Amino acid sequence: MENESFELEFILNGESKNIRVKHYWTLAEVLRSQEGLTGTKLCCEEGECGACTVIVDGKSVTSCIVLAPEVQGSNIVTIEGLSQDGEIDPVQEAFIEEGAVQCGYCIPGMVMSAKNLLDENDSPDEEEIKEALGGNICRCAGYYRIICAVQSAAQKYKEKVKVL
Ligand code: FES
Ligand code: FES
Repeated sequence: MENESFELEFILNGESKNIRVKHYWTLAEVLRSQEGLTGTKLCCEEGECGACTVIVDGKSVTSCIVLAPEVQGSNIVTIEGLSQDGEIDPVQEAFIEEGAVQCGYCIPGMVMSAKNLLDENDSPDEEEIKEALGGNICRCAGYYRIICAVQSAAQKYKEKVKVL
């Protein structure tokens, strides 16, 4: 079909991209199939579980229900984009230290939602953390440790800022 594909230009984890994609592909498909970034997980594919969460223009979105044309010109950050100079992000560090990872399937999405929360609010209370992660389902039900990890990550960010 004519017009079924188009040039998608965007920034992905700090790098400019210009790739040919189909209009009906989702952002998750673009990331996983075209860019090979399989850290973004697919599960429900209906916007219900949060496994596919990435950050688009500073807001967390479920990439399985965002179509490629919607991210034309956007700045996208995936779980692969969080590490800097070979160092993992404080949120990732906190999830490991707090034992918040069980099977791990929900974790990239949880980390991206937590990162988005902490970018907007450096001292969230428990209710605010629950609210921000409300769209992320953990089938291993590790919620208590995940909340502890987000609290610990908030502390780590503050310490990092003090050092800089
Ligand atoms: S896979 Fe996207 S919300 Fe579940
Ligand atoms: S750690 Fe298994 S689904 Fe969350």
